[in-house]
Amino acid sequence: MTSPRPVVLVTGAGAGIGRACAITLASHGYHVIAADRDERSAESTTRHIGDHGGFGDAHVCDVTNSAAVDAMVDMIIRKHGALDGAVNNAGISGARVGIADLDDEAWIHTRSIDLDGVLYCMRAEIRAMRPRGRGSIVNMASILSTVAVSNAAAYITAKHGVLGLTRSAALDYAQDGIRINAVGPGFIDVERRRDMAADVRHDLTARHPIGRLGSPEDVAELVTFLMSERARNITGSFVPTDGGYTVH
Ligand SMILES: NC(=O)c1ccc[n+]([C@@H]2O[C@H](COP(=O)([O-])OP(=O)(O)OC[C@H]3O[C@@H](n4cnc5c(N)ncnc54)[C@H](O)[C@@H]3O)[C@@H](O)[C@H]2O)c1
Repeated sequence: MTSPRPVVLVTGAGAGIGRACAITLASHGYHVIAADRDERSAESTTRHIGDHGGFGDAHVCDVTNSAAVDAMVDMIIRKHGALDGAVNNAGISGARVGIADLDDEAWIHTRSIDLDGVLYCMRAEIRAMRPRGRGSIVNMASILSTVAVSNAAAYITAKHGVLGLTRSAALDYAQDGIRINAVGPGFIDVERRRDMAADVRHDLTARHPIGRLGSPEDVAELVTFLMSERARNITGSFVPTDGGYTVH
């Protein structure tokens, strides 16, 4: 059966930026597959979507498990007939230590979610989109895909890698009608930052010339634009939404 609405997969849709992307895309008429490794938070997102008149299904998936990612995309095709778009958002911030103190486990853990997970998702999504000759993928990169802060090498390396994956795939599949872009949020005011000490919040805010931390909804608006046909001439791009963070 083919869904009457465009179908979009959002990973890490249970909280923060992913949740905002899922809710915003649903409000624009997409049927959202809200995937998260945490079942209750994925269900909370789809409940919110349903309560506001939208359409969505929760799906439990850990993006580090490539077989589970493949099975999830197969399930979407079986149930909905197509996959029109995807937001590869699931990610963690990783260990805050210098390279000399970064152990193998912490390096591999961060890389497996923030970089390998994006590869596994893109690979399955592209395989599903290619036969139809269209699709739009948005990868969640970061300002730390182009600049660095201290003591975050695993995260920064993975996020730089997301740009490499984005640009390579955009080139490889442009002729197949699949657009692939990355967005680069600055420090975003997600739920887990709400209880930050006032001085830390002040310092973090001061790094953004615009004078505020961006919201998850700010990121979701950009993602929704890149997902849509209005962005039909944009592929392989990295688009920051960072209040000017990377200007200086
Ligand atoms: N918050 C920021 O300031 C910021 C800035 C730049 C980029 N980002 C990126 O945005 C993305 C989302 O960040 P956030 O701040 O909203 O995070 P968050 O911690 O608020 O939410 C992340 C969600 O992803 C899920 N998740 C984590 N690992 C997963 C896995 N292996 N498989 C499936 N789901 C998993 C979590 O359960 C959670 O629901 C990440 O890729 C992050 O690197 C965030």
